[in-house]
Amino acid sequence: MGRILVTGGSGYIGSHTVVALLEAGYEVVSIDDHSRSHDFIMDRIKQITGTEVVNHRINLVDRATLEDFFCNEHTGITGVIHFAAYKAVGESVANPLLYFENNLVGQINLMRCVDQYNIPHFVFSSSCTVYGNPESLPVTESSPLLEPESPYGRTKLIGEAFLRDWVLVCPTRVAALRYFNPVGAHPSALIGEFSRGVPENLLPYITQTAAGIRERLTIYGRDYPTRDGTCVRDYLHVCDVALAHVAALKHLERHTDAPPFDVFNLGSGVGQTVLEMVQAFEEVTGTPLTYTFGERRTGDVVAVYADNRKAREQLGWSTLYSLQDMLRTAWAWEQALSQSHNTRQ
Ligand code: WQD
Repeated sequence: MGRILVTGGSGYIGSHTVVALLEAGYEVVSIDDHSRSHDFIMDRIKQITGTEVVNHRINLVDRATLEDFFCNEHTGITGVIHFAAYKAVGESVANPLLYFENNLVGQINLMRCVDQYNIPHFVFSSSCTVYGNPESLPVTESSPLLEPESPYGRTKLIGEAFLRDWVLVCPTRVAALRYFNPVGAHPSALIGEFSRGVPENLLPYITQTAAGIRERLTIYGRDYPTRDGTCVRDYLHVCDVALAHVAALKHLERHTDAPPFDVFNLGSGVGQTVLEMVQAFEEVTGTPLTYTFGERRTGDVVAVYADNRKAREQLGWSTLYSLQDMLRTAWAWEQALSQSHNTRQ
């Protein structure tokens, strides 16, 4: 098996993917500047897999340091999985230049090094936000790419466009994975999603409300044209997202006749409303949630969920974890965080 560079290897999806790569027999090296993650994640990964993974604390925008890394470390690297990017939708609206520089300049610097060292396989972390507010559902990879709802979404759309042009003149082959809503945590509760400050995303807000950290959950809007008036999203377990990256890598390794750039939807294929997620959480965990209905949140799309046939048929991937697994592991992670926070105090 090859040696894989994971950028953002200490992050939420990155750390779960490092575990999946190690368990699939790959060797892994990580680059993560820990601006949005923590330095103890590699220790947690060792606890889970028994394998030490070295993380190099580099920001991809720092081209000289990144080039030094590749000069010293490129030997044996057969693939790059690129997660390192900021992804808070609200923050990107308030600070677009931060997102354009971090996400796009960082990606360009990485692409330069991949090209220079002839690394054959590249997996890109993209997003269902490229579909904007879709007119027909479920969305397939051929659904129109509409105006992104945020600068974050725009960096994913532009990031894909960079890669489409690049593969025409570079032998590297690319798979762009469009995530829908990854949630949950590793069953060990040793790794999961860290929220900085008040969580933007639904699941961490639900678990922090259940843990008493937040007074109540506000459901943003109940007057949408959906079955119960709240927004519809396609939630899938972060471990399923991680396994999809291994499947995409193997796809690139095996199918040299596949298109040099290709995109795949990573979704469960099932749409759940916000209210259904709240009620399912209460049922799965036996923990009642305090919630209220508030105004719609700017930038929210009404409903989006995936047609995941292409990933199933071409990557041989399908979701293994249920909605109950997502909610149960998210809650176990929150409880583990609360315990470690209490012991740290
Ligand atoms: C889900 C639903 C909210 C919080 C995410 C990521 C984005 C991208 C797509 C990967 C919406 C509602 C939320 C709350 C609520 N993923 N909500 N109260 O907006 O779909 O975007 O998935 O690239 O990076 O952010 O996810 O979890 O923020 O919201 O009612 O306190 O939950 O209105 O309908 P979203 P989300």
